[in-house]
Amino acid sequence: MADSNYMSGFGNEFATEAIPGTLPVGRNSPQKVAHGLYAEQLSGTAFTAPRGENRRSWLYRIRPAAMHGRFEPFAQPRLHERFGEAPVSPDQMRWDPLPLPEAPTDFVEGLYTVAGNGGSGLRTGVGIHLYAANATMRGRYFYSADGELLIVPQLGRLRIATELGVLELEPQEIAVVPRGVRFRVELPDGPSRGYVCENYGTLLRLPDLGPIGANGLANPRDFLTPVAAYEDLEGSFELIAKFDGHLWHAPIGHSPLDVVAWHGNYAPYKYDLRRFNTIGSISFDHPDPSIFLVLTSPTETPGVGNLDLAIFPPRWLVQQDTFRPPWFHRNVASEFMGLVHGAYDAKAEGFAPGGCSLHNCMTGHGPDAATFEKASTADLSKPDVITDTMAFMFETRLVLRPTRQAVEAAHRQRDYQACWAGLRKHFTPPA
Ligand SMILES: [Fe+2]
Repeated sequence: MADSNYMSGFGNEFATEAIPGTLPVGRNSPQKVAHGLYAEQLSGTAFTAPRGENRRSWLYRIRPAAMHGRFEPFAQPRLHERFGEAPVSPDQMRWDPLPLPEAPTDFVEGLYTVAGNGGSGLRTGVGIHLYAANATMRGRYFYSADGELLIVPQLGRLRIATELGVLELEPQEIAVVPRGVRFRVELPDGPSRGYVCENYGTLLRLPDLGPIGANGLANPRDFLTPVAAYEDLEGSFELIAKFDGHLWHAPIGHSPLDVVAWHGNYAPYKYDLRRFNTIGSISFDHPDPSIFLVLTSPTETPGVGNLDLAIFPPRWLVQQDTFRPPWFHRNVASEFMGLVHGAYDAKAEGFAPGGCSLHNCMTGHGPDAATFEKASTADLSKPDVITDTMAFMFETRLVLRPTRQAVEAAHRQRDYQACWAGLRKHFTPPA
């Protein structure tokens, strides 16, 4: 379970102190905070949001977040919100992994927007980014005022030092850094790559379980929030903000990671995808992929997600008289897939760890020809076991509009559709 660097539970009301006796007792904003600290509230929802939805934390810090120089535009042209600058083709699309940089590139410099919908100004939709980086952020801190950041590393560990504590992350784990929380990403393994989904909608939460019951899928106790940790550093640093769809930077004379203690329910967290309790059929057919749902950002329409994070983890397939790989389908929602580890069971080749695919609203997709032929004649008297794999999907209700740089990228597989070209006609009408 959690080690001493983390607290366990999803969306809990946490309280944590790097120096004992820092948190005020019985109030949030005393006349004098212990140790000469400043009190500051960080809101993640409207002040008047219903209690069950309300998210905020109180931070006790060396200097308030108001202290920094003036923001100027920051040039990082690969990270933006210009989704679908040209009409969006309904084609299936797939990309090889984003090439790793050769020049020193940190996490913020290495972010690369692939697709998105809605926008931060609309407070709906998502921005889907990749990152490929090889350098630790030095003297530089980042936050997105536009959305919480769901981070999915694929290559290399990340050490994410945030205002509220440190998340140590490795591939097959995910992290969520809330909107507004300042952080620095260190790369202990050097070259690193992964995926980031910026959620402009309602905060991610655990899905309801319906008839599954009180346990299963991602269990709340496996979500880990860091304990308070601070640094007391002065120097010529840089604060980078993503604000209203654009990037800005300001000089800052101290580290903003100076929160000595905090309490509340608006905080970063991480989750190990290998702890997901995978559920499936033990008779016939596949249930819908909603059984693979880890987290959801709901909309005002019941059951319709602004963002659903689903995963395809190791699992047993025992169904009888059933085509066991994922079925062919067209979806009213739009699907962006990535592969963190191993191979994905619907594709024999071409979908590499670090790669991604986009199957938009009503675009047909499913297993490739090689997978279909193999699974159609497989011996179902034995169970299949899928091991060493971790694929995921960002599913969203609106069309995902790829960016111009993604459509035109050299690492886009322009022959992706050929994987279905070999599906043979098997139809034989009765004589
Ligand atoms: Fe799909």
